[in-house]
Amino acid sequence: MSAQPVTITLTGAGGQIGYAALFRIASGALLGSQQSVRLRLLEVPQGLQAAEGVALELTDCAFPLLHSVDIFTDPNAAFEGASVAFLVGARPRTAGMERADLLQANGGIFGPQGRAINDHADDNIRVIVVGNPANTNALIAQHNAPDVPPERFTALTRLDHNRAIGILAQEARVHVSEINGITVWGNHSATQYPDLSHATISNAPALDTLDPLWARGEYIRRVAQRGAEIINTRGSSSAASAANAAIDHMRDWISGTPQRWTSVALPSDGSYGIPEGIVSSFPARSVDGSWKIVQGLTIDLFSRERIEASVNELLEEHNAVKALGLIPA
Ligand code: NAD
Ligand code: LMR
Repeated sequence: MSAQPVTITLTGAGGQIGYAALFRIASGALLGSQQSVRLRLLEVPQGLQAAEGVALELTDCAFPLLHSVDIFTDPNAAFEGASVAFLVGARPRTAGMERADLLQANGGIFGPQGRAINDHADDNIRVIVVGNPANTNALIAQHNAPDVPPERFTALTRLDHNRAIGILAQEARVHVSEINGITVWGNHSATQYPDLSHATISNAPALDTLDPLWARGEYIRRVAQRGAEIINTRGSSSAASAANAAIDHMRDWISGTPQRWTSVALPSDGSYGIPEGIVSSFPARSVDGSWKIVQGLTIDLFSRERIEASVNELLEEHNAVKALGLIPA
């Protein structure tokens, strides 16, 4: 076993995604069976007791890889020495809240957390934002961490990517391993675009075998609305699948993607005409510890229009957080 534990900070540790993620992280699902972990959990005072309960249960698992668990309400302390950060806790939209109110409330969370990461995290910090609106929360955190390379801030669209695979596999009646080449573009919202143009099923183009009406209609709606479908069916938002996807994202980032590409929301470098700076989902592979956007994919008119619609929503959110002074103008 590696002598030095890796420090992992998770915010929102008293919530349902925290509960679904922490036991898997402590058991080795993130960094493997030889790497011990030090958990630093951040909660708000109202969530502290729930986080303390989680810590008791972590102790009761006697995980061989778990070095320690500490709980904080101060982001500066929680991010001290972290090289991996899961930003899960966020302000949910409540009745009567306008989008600007939601962005403002989340700016009050992700701005200070970005600054705490800037000032206290390890130089190798990797951040994934899960808390919604995830892409724009990542943007806010990134702008508040000027000493950290922007590409260290990412947001979760791996859940959408995994949903896109699972739903396609079910429709085509194949194992998920037979599916390759899916991309989710844009925002983690109803405007996201799960793109089958380059997808294959058992190495053959997916669009050659699927009903085009399903592939370019119902399928896109189904994937994009899956979060709402889970809320309606389960009575609360996705938790285990979200935690699983966040771990998939971080594990692949650190250890490298297998042959297939995945979908990752990261600050755009202008690829595919997506304006630089906004945090958009792209097809990406992890190479030598960094996400690299897959280049050279042909984008047809159908895809272009859908990518633009989601990117336009991200630009609106970007402009709104600029207007609110949450990121520099
Ligand atoms: P939850 O309400 O069960 O838990 C959230 C926890 O965060 C609570 O314990 C709360 O006290 C805590 N919290 C709030 N503000 C905090 C802060 N400033 N610092 C630290 N902790 C804070 O919610 P959940 O089901 O765990 O979901 C968490 C977030 O993830 C939500 O915003 C949800 O919409 C989002 N989500 C995103 C995806 C995705 O794919 N990107 C998927 C599912 C859920
Ligand atoms: C999801 O995609 O499951 C969540 O983002 C839904 C939500 O609003 O929390």
